[in-house]
Amino acid sequence: MIELNKLIINNPAEQNLNFNKPSNDKKVYIETYGCQMNFSDTEIVLSVLSQFGYNETSEINDSDVILVNTCAIRDNAEQRVYKRLDDLKKFKKTNPNLIIGILGCMAERLRSDLLEKRKMVDLIVGPDEYRKVPHLIESAMESGEKGIAVKLSKVETYDDIVPVRKEGISAWLTIIRGCDKFCTFCVVPFTRGRERSRNFKNIVDEAKMLRDSGVRDITLLGQNVNSYDYENTDFPDLLKMVAKAVPDVRIRYSTSHPYDCDTKLLETMAEYDNICNYLHLPVQSGSDRILKLMNRLYSVEHYMKVMQKAKDLMPGIGLSTDIISCFPSETEEEHKMTVDLIKQVRYDGAYTFIYSPRENTKAYRMPDRLSDEVKKERMDELIYVQREISSEIHRALIGKEMEVLIESVSKKSDEQFMGRTDCNKSVILPKEVTFVNENGELIKKHECKIGDKVKVKIVKANSATLFSEHILN
Ligand code: SAH
Ligand code: SF4
Ligand code: F3S
Repeated sequence: MIELNKLIINNPAEQNLNFNKPSNDKKVYIETYGCQMNFSDTEIVLSVLSQFGYNETSEINDSDVILVNTCAIRDNAEQRVYKRLDDLKKFKKTNPNLIIGILGCMAERLRSDLLEKRKMVDLIVGPDEYRKVPHLIESAMESGEKGIAVKLSKVETYDDIVPVRKEGISAWLTIIRGCDKFCTFCVVPFTRGRERSRNFKNIVDEAKMLRDSGVRDITLLGQNVNSYDYENTDFPDLLKMVAKAVPDVRIRYSTSHPYDCDTKLLETMAEYDNICNYLHLPVQSGSDRILKLMNRLYSVEHYMKVMQKAKDLMPGIGLSTDIISCFPSETEEEHKMTVDLIKQVRYDGAYTFIYSPRENTKAYRMPDRLSDEVKKERMDELIYVQREISSEIHRALIGKEMEVLIESVSKKSDEQFMGRTDCNKSVILPKEVTFVNENGELIKKHECKIGDKVKVKIVKANSATLFSEHILN
């Protein structure tokens, strides 16, 4: 069991709160689905709960409260959660006092529907009401009262709450909540509400605190970080402030919108060594007509100019994107335009999704007449083309030297580490490595540790990962 208050980083305001913390022996198990923002929100919920003495447990059988932080972005994301809720029924049977709560974007979208149809759900809390979670748990425990808190806020940024982060050298740092872009396919503006930025002073302080606690890799988060605006400080200004405040920490961000990803941002990235040369810029489609229907606010020409500028300013930059295939009325020719765009940009990686109609969005009312067969064919083609490009790019890196920040033990083997390059390539390297000198002679064995930055030679590659055996002096 993890005692949450022990994980809270040194912050005088937090310490005072902890000092007055009511005692509580209740254990919370929390499961998270969806994007990085949701994972970051889970850390906020854990922090709020810790103020009321709750402890996190990784043992679901041992918990008094199970919380599921949900995602509503596509139908399959919701189906996964529904399936999981069915699994959770059995825990309620063996422990009738167990409290089950739904948090996050599905909570916002489905509200009372969830309470009525899923009788075992005790509370439903949307992304802007997490301060209420402890009170709602308490009411459910004491009087069996079902709780629902799904109001969206124009001001809530949880600015005063220090998230309870898991151990490790990487951390998320939310800088802006909500989204005002209203892409016609997307539920996020409905599930997370209007855009609001956090105070840059607190962001910079949090970055320094993270650095002091051993974090070496910070990702600034927002659905659209380019919209960051706090007292006339824009996103490039903020990025610069953070980069300067923690020069020994890698800074990355997610996600950027092509409409307002400007030269100032790219120049800032190029100027600071500790800002990663990596840009995830979702294009969604290679057709101007489809982009217009999506309300993406940019043209293919504009997007390509941004990409070219990024390549010119940062040679070797890592590039990735999101693509929605089979948006309503997409023709075969328009699909081919997306394929061509992938070939032209030559992304390092792409996340491809089949369009999923979401209730209440504008695109929901657009006729979606493509057969499942066509959808699968188009999706397969996108995946195939991108995989070939990723493999080619990776194969060309064999024999090259790259700097890697060691982030964790490899998921596949305890004997290996996983690290990332500045341009976001995952590299697998052995824990115990042989040093070689310039002549290629083995000079000693060395055990690396998480958080080390090492120079490696790439010896093998596939479309997703690079592999290295040696560390170079
Ligand atoms: N805020 C980010 C993306 C958030 S959602 C941005 O604007 O780039 C992540 C990705 O999910 C989107 O980029 C899009 O490619 C995909 N997505 C969102 N809604 C979808 C839907 N209804 N169907 C299929 N994919 C969707
Ligand atoms: Fe959704 Fe568009 Fe906002 Fe991204 S920018 S979260 S895709 S509405
Ligand atoms: Fe999903 Fe909500 Fe993120 S819908 S993608 S968890 S903002």
